[in-house]
Amino acid sequence: MSLSQPHGGTLINRYQPDLDLSAITKQVEVDKIALSDLELIANGAYSPLEGFMGAEDYEQVVQHMRLASGEVWSIPITLPVSEEAASTIKEGDMVKLSYEGTAYGVIEVREKYRPDKTVEAQQVYRTTDLAHPGVKKLFERPSVYLGGPVTLVKRLPKQRFAEFYLDPSETRAKFRERGWRTVVGFQTRNPVHRAHEYIQKCALEIVDGLFLNPLVGETKADDIPADVRMESYQVLLKHYYPPERVFLAVFPAAMRYAGPREAIFHALVRKNYGCTHFIVGRDHAGVGNYYGTYDAQRIFDHFSPAELGITPLFFEHSFYCYRCGGMASTKTCPHGEEDRLILSGTKVRQMLSRGEVPPPEFSRKEVVEVLIQGLKQPTYSS
Ligand code: ADX
Repeated sequence: MSLSQPHGGTLINRYQPDLDLSAITKQVEVDKIALSDLELIANGAYSPLEGFMGAEDYEQVVQHMRLASGEVWSIPITLPVSEEAASTIKEGDMVKLSYEGTAYGVIEVREKYRPDKTVEAQQVYRTTDLAHPGVKKLFERPSVYLGGPVTLVKRLPKQRFAEFYLDPSETRAKFRERGWRTVVGFQTRNPVHRAHEYIQKCALEIVDGLFLNPLVGETKADDIPADVRMESYQVLLKHYYPPERVFLAVFPAAMRYAGPREAIFHALVRKNYGCTHFIVGRDHAGVGNYYGTYDAQRIFDHFSPAELGITPLFFEHSFYCYRCGGMASTKTCPHGEEDRLILSGTKVRQMLSRGEVPPPEFSRKEVVEVLIQGLKQPTYSS
């Protein structure tokens, strides 16, 4: 067995720092999500995408979770621009993509189209409720989509934890250096609590390495900021994981909160980073009560193992059970609710912000210390 092939067969590289944009006069200002997508297309994390989706790919993805080529793809990667900006752009134009006035890349506009966002929301998020953070964001973004291949000319600034930003070609090299033939990817937007640690270590019992790959792009305001989480991951790894079996790097994408559809997307992207396996636990990428606890596992049934090219590892709801005297899951523990320590994310965040310490059966004390300290600092940002 060797590391997974990239999705579509080739790792895309659309980064050209020497490309001269000085003759290009048109420019659009993009939002944070599009900026991170631009970089992730360019560095191959979104292979086989070479640009923002045109109408045909978009329609196929929204309706059937496939690109026009037939490859599996579950989340639309789009470039929304305002009506005003769109009116100055025509198909065939080269347009600089800028963020806060700095040009990071360029798009060769092949298409300009108007999406039906109600259909997109219903298909991708399974709801049109504006209280859903992903749906809210979808409707807040501008209303015209530009499609076409992109080139990144400037890497995005990385203030802290710069050493944890690696491109898929680099993570693949790291995995190979370590001699790993099988690697399990772990997506998270949270601190790693005991339940996360349990499922990671169960997976580690059967594969060579764990790729801890926290998402650090845009998240909703009440999620724990990425900087604080990064510190908590490092302290946890230092004390509780064998260093030669774990590799930590960030996933700089925005969180969509699209539950099942996002689980497929997360798996495909981790395949591009070189993973052979991917963990999907309870309510993966979910929010509120929009998705069933195991919907993000069931969605994998729509695809054959060959077309996914990465093996999902499914885990049931895990917790500490006082009668078992250890971590367990609904699959392995015969006891009742009263014996289990189960705390909601909201409850834990409230405890932490009050400086209260969740029990060690829920979270390692070193992690809790970092979180309490970090959440006190007004300077932290997500
Ligand atoms: S996510 O939005 O990034 O998926 P989170 O960071 O909470 O959220 O979860 C990371 C991964 O761990 C997901 O695959 C999720 O399903 C899984 N997970 C989280 N908590 C548990 C738990 N108590 N039991 C089993 N799996 C869990």
